[in-house]
Amino acid sequence: MASEDVVAVESHTSQNTTDIVGPAEDEISYGPVLISKLEGNGITSSDIRKLVEAGYNTVESIAYTPKRILLTVKGISEAKADKLLHMASQYVPMGFTTATEFHQRRSELISITTGSKQLDTLLGGGIETGSITEIFGEFRTGKSQLCHTLAVTCQLPIDMGGGEGKCLYIDTEGTFRPSRLLSIGSRYGLDGNVALDNVAYARAYNADHQLQLLNQAAAMMAESRFSLLIVDSIMALYRTDFSGRGELSARQTHVAKYMRMLQRLADEFGIAVVITNQVVAQVDGAAGMFNADPKKPIGGNIIAHASTTRLSLRKGRGPQRICKIYDSPCLPESECVFAIYEDGIGDPEDPES
Ligand SMILES: Nc1ncnc2c1ncn2[C@@H]1O[C@H](COP(=O)(O)OP(=O)(O)OP(=O)(O)O)[C@@H](O)[C@H]1O
Ligand SMILES: [Mg+2]
Repeated sequence: MASEDVVAVESHTSQNTTDIVGPAEDEISYGPVLISKLEGNGITSSDIRKLVEAGYNTVESIAYTPKRILLTVKGISEAKADKLLHMASQYVPMGFTTATEFHQRRSELISITTGSKQLDTLLGGGIETGSITEIFGEFRTGKSQLCHTLAVTCQLPIDMGGGEGKCLYIDTEGTFRPSRLLSIGSRYGLDGNVALDNVAYARAYNADHQLQLLNQAAAMMAESRFSLLIVDSIMALYRTDFSGRGELSARQTHVAKYMRMLQRLADEFGIAVVITNQVVAQVDGAAGMFNADPKKPIGGNIIAHASTTRLSLRKGRGPQRICKIYDSPCLPESECVFAIYEDGIGDPEDPES
């Protein structure tokens, strides 16, 4: 068995654009490279099939995966894993780059509009692609409504604030409503059938199923252009499938695996990942005494660390809601008001209150 541990460095930016090195000029393509490119040199078509079954559909997915995880795929020996990683590294840039180039690449990252100008401004343009955004808050704070709006806006052309891609929607609570997409779609002039056809929907029934759906998601994303993956909500099934302190560590291991897969999809396909989360009253320590809003998102450190941007929602007057940046690598802790309407998320009519 392998003694050395992690060989691939996980990247936190989208790398599936034009700067692929290694392959011949005419092989340079846009978007992720299909895993079938790695066939040959001792990697058989049956190896490729087993990798696809395990959720690896692209060369990027191989490049970003540690060797010891590749070894868990049936039929992948140490020698084959080395070969796969070596070949993948020819396609996917994994080394150092200058901050200038990185800055340039980041400036090309697309953001998806939330439907509210104020909220977009707060977020520095909208929901960022290539990373995970967590939206948490009490019930009726608009988490699912924001997801519905994003499921439509992600389809729009880039100059309209969209991501020019389809949406994959994983619903763990049974609150997805296609009729909402129709109302939101008509606001943006989208044909209702097109708006609905561009959303791939799955209801998840338990935590294992929720994870398994991500393998299917990876296969679908390798086939056509998706710009957004939504999981509404991330922890609901974990709360019912794992109960009590005794199962906490098993639960967190499962959640960690799930979040890792979400990040891989964000890196691999350059999609935005949006997850919603529930909150619980913070009972431990003196937090409640000093904190005006003692509710905290569930899922502990695993969710906290895996989410790049964390947004906290709370209720305002009538249709108004307040969004606060709770954690972000580049945005200050500020807040803004938005509103929920029949045609989706928008700006408040009366921004003073
Ligand atoms: N068609 C609509 N037009 C205007 N407002 C709507 C419409 N549909 C739902 N809402 C509002 O959206 C709110 C519900 O928001 P949402 O379902 O997004 O909450 P949530 O944060 O997902 O809550 P939960 O934690 O229960 O899932 C309600 O206050 C409701 O009034
Ligand atoms: Mg909801």
